[in-house]
Amino acid sequence: MKGEDRLKNLEDLEREALLGGGEKRIKAQHDKGKLTARERIDLLLDKNTFRETDKFVTHRCADFGLDKNRVLGDGVVTGYGRINGRVVCIFAEDFTVFGGSLSLAYAGKIVKLQDLAMKMGCPIIGLKDSGGARIQEGVDSLAGYTDVFLRNVLASGVIPQISAVLGPCAGGAVYSPAMTDFIIMVAGSYMFLTGPDVVKAATHEDVTYDELGGAMVHNEKSGVAHFAVDSELECIELLKRLFSFIPQNNLEDPPSLEPTDDPNRMDKSLDTIIPDSPNKPYDMLEVIKKIVDSGEFLEVHRHYAPNLIVGFARFNGKAVGVVANQPAVLAGVLGRNSGMKGARFVRFCDCFNIPIITFVDVPGFLPGTAQEWGGVIKNGAKLLYAFCEATVPRITIITRKAYGGAYCVMSSKHTRADVNFAWPSAEIAVMGPDGAVKILYRKQLKEAKDPKALEKKLIDEYTQKFANPFVTASKGYIDAVIRPSETRARIIESLEIIENKRDSNPPKKHGNIPL
Ligand code: HXC
Repeated sequence: MKGEDRLKNLEDLEREALLGGGEKRIKAQHDKGKLTARERIDLLLDKNTFRETDKFVTHRCADFGLDKNRVLGDGVVTGYGRINGRVVCIFAEDFTVFGGSLSLAYAGKIVKLQDLAMKMGCPIIGLKDSGGARIQEGVDSLAGYTDVFLRNVLASGVIPQISAVLGPCAGGAVYSPAMTDFIIMVAGSYMFLTGPDVVKAATHEDVTYDELGGAMVHNEKSGVAHFAVDSELECIELLKRLFSFIPQNNLEDPPSLEPTDDPNRMDKSLDTIIPDSPNKPYDMLEVIKKIVDSGEFLEVHRHYAPNLIVGFARFNGKAVGVVANQPAVLAGVLGRNSGMKGARFVRFCDCFNIPIITFVDVPGFLPGTAQEWGGVIKNGAKLLYAFCEATVPRITIITRKAYGGAYCVMSSKHTRADVNFAWPSAEIAVMGPDGAVKILYRKQLKEAKDPKALEKKLIDEYTQKFANPFVTASKGYIDAVIRPSETRARIIESLEIIENKRDSNPPKKHGNIPL
């Protein structure tokens, strides 16, 4: 073949590879309002930075007539490029090729990329749109999946792994994203292990794909997904934003941006934000937004267990993770789901050198059989465990209530937090005044001539003694009682001071977090 012909041949093959499952299937994808795998990658990565790997790989199965139906690239587009200049590995499942279903060769492409990302120490992003195991390939497909899963686990805590679900994510396709750090789901996408037909046969339940495993189901009910967005474009923007808070790997710090806000900015409105009545709610999101850089907060898991807030923000340009009780939902109690939610977020931050700022206003744990039977003990313990093992810089601010076990859990001094502040409105006690008086003075109240009056007097006395931060401060369990308006400046100053903190856990194979 002559030089020119060789080039022509390469161009022909490249053109063929670009078409994936063919023009008809690309049109069908567009008709569903979906982008193709390559269009998604092009939108996410910096212009002209994508370098595709394994463009000419084809499946190797000859059963069920597949030998006559080989597609260049085989159902997944893989490669690397840059997002805001930072290197990232990326794969996008191509629904136009056998419904994006996974063959052994397809898995091999992802495995190669996972190994590369680990060697280079860069994040890996998976854009999911797949019908699961390629049924024609049988156990080869299962083997391929497991090769990918293994690498998901080995990469966990070494490089950030992020998944976006933009179409079906069926059967075996769910487990790889489930083991990554974050899942974004686009409206209309769905994730399930067993589809509606199987569900109907087994349980007689008649459900649609959306009811079974749609974006809101996994954001609100199961907690499998961390973000829900309305469109693919929104998903791309969110991926870029999320990426901006996350380092390249566990040995690097998260990127530091040019500060957008005055580090000494005082907010006088914080001095009066806590209501006079201890049982009146206020919005902790408002508190967070008044304190962080330019009011910008990327909330994670927003729809799941909203009595606990988790998310990313910046202080003087540096990324932090925020964990906060939300008194506006269920009075901010900790529960089964919020324990899991918080623990997972704290562990992510700890893996990737992201300091944690914790805002505390928690009256205790959610009571009830649903909670106890649902394992509130082990799930609350997850959050306690996560804080105790976290060695990243940690600052805690008690804004109001810190009662009982929840005081211990919420990044208290005793869990190795570095700087613990309390606002003058803080109430730190074993339990609230009403409950404490009922237990401590049960006999006296029973025998009193005027139990109501005695109860009020005792509650007032208890409140006087414990409903303030000074008893705790006198024991050194908090470092300082600060004015709410100066919280931002105090956090930024503290973060600078503890920036080079060194702490470690005893050598071990791994701990045994109560799963
Ligand atoms: C082979 C598949 C496929 C699969 C879809 N296709 N899924 N081919 N293996 N798993 C093919 C279809 O046959 C079809 O080809 C094309 O992809 C597009 O699929 P449609 O069904 O037309 O698309 P849509 O109507 O949008 O439905 C999407 C879908 C549906 C809901 C995902 O395709 C579906 O239910 N697929 C099977 C899902 C599933 O049960 N997967 C689990 C596999 S077992 P043609 O040529 O007809 O257009 C598994 C276990 C692994 O994953 C466990 C590992 C731990």
